[in-house]
Amino acid sequence: MTILGIETSCDETAAAVIEGKNDHVLLKANVLATSLSLHAKTGGIIPEQAAREQAKYMLPILKETVRKAFDTSDILASFKYIDAISVTYGPGLIGSLLVGVETAKTIAFTLNKPLIPINHMVGHIYANFIQENKKSNHVTSPQSEVPQFPALALVVSGGHTDLLLMKNHGDFRLLGGTRDDAAGEAFDKIGRMLGLSYPAGPEIERLAKQGNPKRFYFPRPLLHEATYEFSFSGLKTAVLREIKEIKQLNNELIKDICCATQNAIIDVLVKKTVKAAKEYSVRSILLSGGVAANQTLREALELHAKDALETKVFAPPKFLCTDNAAMIASAAFFNYSPMPWRKITADPELYF
Ligand code: KG4
Ligand code: ZN
Repeated sequence: MTILGIETSCDETAAAVIEGKNDHVLLKANVLATSLSLHAKTGGIIPEQAAREQAKYMLPILKETVRKAFDTSDILASFKYIDAISVTYGPGLIGSLLVGVETAKTIAFTLNKPLIPINHMVGHIYANFIQENKKSNHVTSPQSEVPQFPALALVVSGGHTDLLLMKNHGDFRLLGGTRDDAAGEAFDKIGRMLGLSYPAGPEIERLAKQGNPKRFYFPRPLLHEATYEFSFSGLKTAVLREIKEIKQLNNELIKDICCATQNAIIDVLVKKTVKAAKEYSVRSILLSGGVAANQTLREALELHAKDALETKVFAPPKFLCTDNAAMIASAAFFNYSPMPWRKITADPELYF
């Protein structure tokens, strides 16, 4: 089955084509445009500006996607190879979601194709089921094996930090979410305090490699409490306090703060995940979301998961960790439940 995916929940305008086969999907085309450079200047996303850019990018991105997938310039004709359309309907920014949802509805209606609405967070998890050529370092990649159930999914993005027990496709039980800031949000806000540009996660990872891990130690909120919930706003406050005490923030100190920040976030994520993996005797851990692109996190999880003997760690290739439409189409293949286009509406607050 060939599925077109559309994703516009935040600042990306993305489309992809996947081919679903039994227990995995093959990536045929994956295209995206981002308005990130506009937002980097303001230190965060301006929703109206993001949606305006998406309205501009949507059609060119769709055209490029089907051209790549079917190797033809006859865009309309190539739609005959597509069996279904899938689209992110939430959570996200309302103006942004609307661009994707209305585009998908229009295509589904005019070409009489089934339409599958997908939760963006579920989409992140399904990036782990996509087959792609390269093997990601140190982490068992989904190319060689597909995840087995029961699985534990850790979704770490800019807006969410969720730990879920997944007994089968579409069968999710939320074990814990974040009480305040998400992990990616903590990276971004702390980065902003240090004068780094948005989104700060990749830059913190780069600087952390050169930092001294012993100079600072930041708190690990809720690490030892009997809950699978997370909290990262205390970490942000602790870093702010430290920055205020330093008279002159120089490059060395910034690197050391990045290192201690990253270590604190990873420590909490990894220890809670491995604890849950043992408690629920899962066969797979599925890491996903933008923060999953962090190599130190990927390696730490792989290392500590050895304690949970029967558990394999999966993480998508890095380009499928941050927002993309391939993961949306993948989720649609494994949770194939089309809905009449009239019943689908964007839901910015959607959760599990
Ligand atoms: O999943 P995503 O692309 O968008 C949301 O759905 O939120 O995640 C974006 C988040 C940002 O907070 C960004 O700073 C973080 O993922 N991120 C990283 C890395 N790459 C992206 N955080 C830490 N290390 C990275 N390498
Ligand atoms: Zn996302």
